[in-house]
Amino acid sequence: MNQDQLKQLVGRAALDYVRPGQVLGVGTGSTVDCFIDALAASGITVAGAVSSSERSTQRLVRHGIPVLDASEVTGLTVYIDGADEIDANGFMIKGGGAALTREKIVADLAERFVCIADESKLVPALGKFPLPVEIIPMAAAQLTRRFAALGGTATLRAGVVTDNGGHILDVTGLVITDPLAFETEVNQWPGVVTVGVFARHKAQVCLLGGAGGVKTLTF
Ligand code: A5P
Repeated sequence: MNQDQLKQLVGRAALDYVRPGQVLGVGTGSTVDCFIDALAASGITVAGAVSSSERSTQRLVRHGIPVLDASEVTGLTVYIDGADEIDANGFMIKGGGAALTREKIVADLAERFVCIADESKLVPALGKFPLPVEIIPMAAAQLTRRFAALGGTATLRAGVVTDNGGHILDVTGLVITDPLAFETEVNQWPGVVTVGVFARHKAQVCLLGGAGGVKTLTF
């Protein structure tokens, strides 16, 4: 199976976590696109979705799935999203699609984060994938210096403005040995909107697609 087929496989597998009549949280990315398409084809009627990006909103609306504002719900049972990297604890790097801020907001509403990914995303330690950080534009140079002090090289993602009007730094060269501590530290730096380490909002379940089918990891 190629990577696209694995994404379709885990997108379909995530339907096991969806209940009719429910409002669910929906992430962003090519794997989530497969989930949205599978949901639309499944015949399961949900009450609606809280979406983490304009991209997912458009796809949900095209399929006739109602999209609710985050402020209209007090909680969600489940949030379904992809990841750029996930480790053996369910800690993740996210934000390759620049939607990390809204993803963390919607994940925060949910009781359970179900990550859907192909097996290439499972890593022994986070940091090989360039870490996305949404920032306030005027802080770009000073945040670049802060990451350099940690051994990282930050590069502004050219031409990208997030759904929130922020910019994205992609940081290479980091080995994130303590994701919780790292997330806490970077969150405090002035100018950081959201760091793409999801440790406080880690996955509780990961549906990992590989040659042998879908493996369910629980954390
Ligand atoms: C979006 O900002 C990201 O967090 C995505 O969830 C992540 O990049 C995974 O995307 P793919 O499913 O396209 O690999």
